[in-house]
Amino acid sequence: MNAKIKIRNLQKKFGSKTVLDNLSLEIFENESLAIIGESGSGKSVLTKCINGLTEYNEGKIIYENSYDVKNLKTEEKRLHISKFGVLFQNSALFDSLNVEKNIFFSCSEKKDFSILRDVGLDKSILSKMPAEISVGVQKRVGLARAIMSKPKILIFDEPTTGLDPVIADQINKLIRGLVIKKKLTTITITHDMKSVYEYADKVAFIKNGKIEWYGQVKQLKNCKNIYMKNFISGKI
Ligand SMILES: Nc1ncnc2c1ncn2[C@@H]1O[C@H](COP(=O)(O)OP(=O)(O)OP(=O)(O)O)[C@@H](O)[C@H]1O
Ligand SMILES: [Mg+2]
Repeated sequence: MNAKIKIRNLQKKFGSKTVLDNLSLEIFENESLAIIGESGSGKSVLTKCINGLTEYNEGKIIYENSYDVKNLKTEEKRLHISKFGVLFQNSALFDSLNVEKNIFFSCSEKKDFSILRDVGLDKSILSKMPAEISVGVQKRVGLARAIMSKPKILIFDEPTTGLDPVIADQINKLIRGLVIKKKLTTITITHDMKSVYEYADKVAFIKNGKIEWYGQVKQLKNCKNIYMKNFISGKI
């Protein structure tokens, strides 16, 4: 199977600090990959290298066997970035725009309101301002915006952090439903093993800038890697 994204020997530094170091990873079409690891281990930075928002120092990120993200010129880079939908940790809604304008912010075609049903929202929400809706509903709005342009790959950066367990469970199930229904390729950064078990196919565990463990979710229960075991049991 050909990888949708092939990362080889990636290095990313901020000044003299090396965040990602000789990291290699493959992401496959129609798969849900969870990226886990300690706070500050470089998970968000990795996804920003992948979708073109951050430059990297060394290595390659090959998209569909056709180009290295590093070599893209400005216009090609913009096209690359537009292949990704992102649900940010805090939903990142525009405070001064209502829900409708937030969801369809970058929509240049006819608005397709069926997206509301996909994320479990009702039309009555469209005129509300972000401050008027709960954090869980904000997540749904952020999710609608992320999938609105039918991106090739979705990135979820900590989709359940800051939510109470009931709402977190609803969001996990919602994402799972979308992943299955729309056959999405997704990258989820998370600290929440419930998200991993709910809808991920594979897991990549980052430590010291590298992939410390990579495998299928079903392999986790027999995983021998001590760092991975500690992470799963909540010791780090
Ligand atoms: N723009 C930046 N300039 C300088 N350092 C940065 C920048 N962005 C990230 N870093 C550093 O890179 C490291 C990795 O950051 P990153 O945000 O990827 O961590 P993370 O694994 O996503 O953590 P968390 O789980 O807390 O979100 C951190 O030490 C962070 O301080
Ligand atoms: Mg992060």
